[in-house]
Amino acid sequence: MNLPSFQRIAPYYDGLAKLVFGNAIDNAQKAFFSLIPEGSSLLIIGGGSGKILPDLMNQIKPKHITYIEASSNMLSKAEKQYQYIKKTLLYPVDMCFIYGTEKDIPADAQYDVLMTFFLLDLYTNDEARELTSVLSAHLKASGSWLFADFCIRGSSSRQRWQRMLLKSMYLFFKFTSNLQNQSLPDYQRIFKELQYFPMQQKFFYKEFIASTIYRKLLS
Ligand SMILES: C[S@@+](CC[C@H](N)C(=O)[O-])C[C@H]1O[C@@H](n2cnc3c(N)ncnc32)[C@H](O)[C@@H]1O
Repeated sequence: MNLPSFQRIAPYYDGLAKLVFGNAIDNAQKAFFSLIPEGSSLLIIGGGSGKILPDLMNQIKPKHITYIEASSNMLSKAEKQYQYIKKTLLYPVDMCFIYGTEKDIPADAQYDVLMTFFLLDLYTNDEARELTSVLSAHLKASGSWLFADFCIRGSSSRQRWQRMLLKSMYLFFKFTSNLQNQSLPDYQRIFKELQYFPMQQKFFYKEFIASTIYRKLLS
């Protein structure tokens, strides 16, 4: 798997995302927080700077969070963010930050919720398939998977600008983050192959961003 490096871009990532997408990136991540039961255990992988943590803590009130990040600069921003929020929390959270990747998920850990936000787009179909199947092994049978990412959708003129914007984003991250992948993986197919079904879906930024809550098909 070609792991991109978000080290150099870490100080600017959230500002750039806000500049281009306004609140759409944050709104897509929060879209289904209201469906997650209080006291859930969460696995957040590729969470970046942890910008979403305050909303997540307020809305979900989780019992446990494992936060895995491959960029140490992003991870230290997320840790600082958490230290700041912690002072205002009225309930205890068991928080575990891990510098690493899916390979570093504690072996026997099982979570109520997986969160992958703007992560799978970094990978080819085969890499995304490999990554999701590792993650899936850590989701409880009754668990939910919150997924948000870019997509190409809508009328042909809409799809034209979406493709152009996507291409320029891939080029930008190729030069700043050594990103090798340059096209979106087929998420729908990947989740289907893993026997997940979309419970609800919402779109943002003129349908360029999709947020989906997936559940496992019970066999
Ligand atoms: C595009 S950023 C998205 C950050 C955040 N989820 C957001 O939406 O604002 C992707 C993040 O995933 C991290 N990452 C990429 N591959 C990873 C992996 N296999 N395991 C853990 N983190 C990963 C990168 O370091 C980066 O911080």
